[in-house]
Amino acid sequence: MEAMKISKRFYAFGILACIAIYVAYIKWHMDSKPMSGVTDGTTENKGDKLDHQTSAADLSVFYGIMFDAGSTGTRIHIFKFTQKSKETPKLTRETFKALKPGLSAYADDVDKSAQGIQELLDVAKKEVPVELWKFTPLVLKATAGLRLLPGEKAQKLLDKVKEIFQASPFFVRDDCVSIMNGTDEGVSAWITINFLTGNLNVPRKRSVGMLDLGGGSTQITFLPSSKTTLQTSPAGHLAAFQMFNNTYKLYSYSYLGLGLMSARLAILGGVEGKPLKEGEELISSCLSPGFKTEWEHAEIMYRVKGQKAGEPLYESCSNKVAKMLYKKVYKAEEVKDLDFYAFSYYYDCAAEVSLIDKEKGGSLTVSDFETAAKHVCKTMEVSPGDNPFLCMDLTYISVLLQELGFPKSQVFKLARKIDDVETSWALGATFHYIDSLNRLQY
Ligand SMILES: *[C@@H]1O[C@H](CO)[C@@H](O)[C@H](O)[C@H]1NC(C)=O
Ligand SMILES: *[C@@H]1O[C@H](CO)[C@@H](O)[C@H](O)[C@H]1NC(C)=O
Repeated sequence: MEAMKISKRFYAFGILACIAIYVAYIKWHMDSKPMSGVTDGTTENKGDKLDHQTSAADLSVFYGIMFDAGSTGTRIHIFKFTQKSKETPKLTRETFKALKPGLSAYADDVDKSAQGIQELLDVAKKEVPVELWKFTPLVLKATAGLRLLPGEKAQKLLDKVKEIFQASPFFVRDDCVSIMNGTDEGVSAWITINFLTGNLNVPRKRSVGMLDLGGGSTQITFLPSSKTTLQTSPAGHLAAFQMFNNTYKLYSYSYLGLGLMSARLAILGGVEGKPLKEGEELISSCLSPGFKTEWEHAEIMYRVKGQKAGEPLYESCSNKVAKMLYKKVYKAEEVKDLDFYAFSYYYDCAAEVSLIDKEKGGSLTVSDFETAAKHVCKTMEVSPGDNPFLCMDLTYISVLLQELGFPKSQVFKLARKIDDVETSWALGATFHYIDSLNRLQY
């Protein structure tokens, strides 16, 4: 009888325990679902990659909020990091949302910019747990668009944003709003890829370098291991910053005017910001012979034309490109010993001629760019094809890479994402900012 009672009680207890475990399990799953409250067209949410096995007491969770104020839009990134004591933090979640137009569109009506900023802040309030708001740094960094506004207008916009930030419940420091230059951008992007490839703060592990080719400028950033690089680099090509309680001395340089679109104009023989005279046209040795078109760059329309057939197109084009680049680019010897990731137009051009997969990216060599350039230029001797600038662009890229010091056999990795996280400067800048608050324990 007594034995029976016990077993009945035990049975009831067993059921309760099962229910409790089941409820805990469901809750655990719900918590790990990506947020679904912000799913209009401009929003993409990353899945939660939090490793639940490690959700122990020694795991701290923190967030950072970065506004990327670009020329065409403003984008909020909310990053969630976890850190086991004494280890390098890991990114476990990223949420972002973008709004158009960019801040610079409000240059003449600063107050109007407020609504969009508030809207993006609301996304952050949903994403970051209330109890962490006052510990979560809120930062805005502006790129190209604001850099081009006359100083006073840009400052008024930034002051307005700062006012809004200071009224928010997040952690706001005096330097929460700023305009980045090319070097800041390069350094932040370098931190991003080395963070995502797991190369940060790992003794004796080689970091990777990064190459970016935008429309207006191109950047190269790497961590030199040779003293020669540090000693011989020209003034302004080195950038030092603090991270993990260490000083990092990077080689980082941004060549203004050598982005792909600005380079096209220089190769064509045009001048930035200067429209052509009536009836004038730019004749190029990189376009299909006799081909004529109009090309818009920085809000100016240029008439362009291929020169008469003669020398093989690739030869005449690469000579022209080499002349345009002559003595413009610093060759850092050490780059040939490092692994590099390449982004933006490097990626797009390689994908356009199927050297890499459009979605997944891939690896290729300087030679691959050169071979593709030769092939495309050859076909363009006959017909301009869908993209009349393709011979020029590919030739430019292959010459530029060699001018930067890369041998033809050098392998590059091209990726838009690493570990399913977008490789923008925003993550690196956020991480660096949080690190600068000296709250992390390594
Ligand atoms: C870029 O800005 C940083 C500060 O954000 C400054 O230290 C650096 O000298 C600037 N670099 C260039 C090339 O203007
Ligand atoms: C960082 O470096 C400073 C001085 O070099 C030292 O006093 C401090 O303890 C270090 N902090 C950590 C977290 O290692």
